[in-house]
Amino acid sequence: MPKFPGIIHSKLPDTGTTIFTVMTKLANEEKAINLSQGFPDFDCPDKIKERTNHYMSNGYNQYAPMQGVPKLREAIADKVERLYSAQYDPDTEINVTAGATQAIYTALTAMIREGDEVIVFEPAYDSYVPAIELCGGIPIFVQLKAPDYHINWKEVQKLVSRRTKAIIINTPHNPTGSIMNAGDMQQLEKLTKGTDIVIISDEVYEHIIFDGYEHQSIARYPKLAERSFVVSSFGKTFHNTGWKIGYILAPQNLMEEFRKVHQFNVFTVNNPMQHAIADFMNDSFHWYADLAKFYQEKRDFFNKCIEGSRFTFTPSAGTYFQLLRYKDISDEKDTDFVVRLTKETKVASIPISVFYHEGIDDKFIRFCFCKGYETLEQAAELLRKV
Ligand SMILES: Cc1ncc(COP(=O)(O)O)c(C=O)c1O
Repeated sequence: MPKFPGIIHSKLPDTGTTIFTVMTKLANEEKAINLSQGFPDFDCPDKIKERTNHYMSNGYNQYAPMQGVPKLREAIADKVERLYSAQYDPDTEINVTAGATQAIYTALTAMIREGDEVIVFEPAYDSYVPAIELCGGIPIFVQLKAPDYHINWKEVQKLVSRRTKAIIINTPHNPTGSIMNAGDMQQLEKLTKGTDIVIISDEVYEHIIFDGYEHQSIARYPKLAERSFVVSSFGKTFHNTGWKIGYILAPQNLMEEFRKVHQFNVFTVNNPMQHAIADFMNDSFHWYADLAKFYQEKRDFFNKCIEGSRFTFTPSAGTYFQLLRYKDISDEKDTDFVVRLTKETKVASIPISVFYHEGIDDKFIRFCFCKGYETLEQAAELLRKV
């Protein structure tokens, strides 16, 4: 096909291929163990697949309602009430989405106009900034500083202005594995009180939190919930990232605006899968606590295997990612180090600097431990030799 002959004025001139795609491609080329991109190498529960087959074979193959299948929205409302003591109306305050990414994109599109400012904590999941920029919004960056990556609220306060339209938070946090605590939520409440600021709370790892800590969902805090979109992803929770199904919670007046965009953005999400997930949720409430334990065991196993290496680390508090610091090994830039590590050591990881707009490099790289024990052991054995 000949190239487009006109001039293309890119709306995202600085955006290239995501680091996840780049590192996964390199891992495949180099036949390296891929601990870069965050997807499990084990399957989702048979029951969910069996229920999906059931619904596909029984005629559930046309459009689902725009808001999502009613019984799935009811299952979500039930879960959120049981876990966070928050009541969301399944008809007016819950929407099923094509993954968390779409939920975040649609919420930003519904809220942000040209020149609006959005506070983003860095290192930041890489979909936030392009989504803000496509709306004509301006990302205002707050750095989370190594090694603990906690939020300095005084710094945030200084950056809030009359133009601040939204704040995006993410707990448990990708890529660092840090979590927000009740004190953070109080600070956020203080900061937003009396303003028109909307919060987009990315809680896709809500059930993957360790060492007995409770996930601080925005939904737990009524004064925050009334100004927030809360986003989650079934892909992270049920080991089916490839299905790209998630959901969003918001008070009715925010949800009305969300739906105006959602209906022309994706309109609706896979029908049989929604039914299957609802059945599974209604039947398996123990899943969430089991999931935290499941991943904590993997984190502990991986970290134990890393002991004796020259990498240093603080155990991840949530998510299925572990940061390792290679400061004692090399002065290289993290983007170079991960390429060399993939080529020479045959283990692929993700450099943290790419999640900062200014490329801050504290010599941390991210490893994904949602993999089988044998894979984790093999990877750690290779890393111990570095
Ligand atoms: C912090 C964060 N938000 C959102 C997403 C996207 O989730 P989904 O696959 O449901 O779109 C991810 C996936 O890696 C993530 O880590």
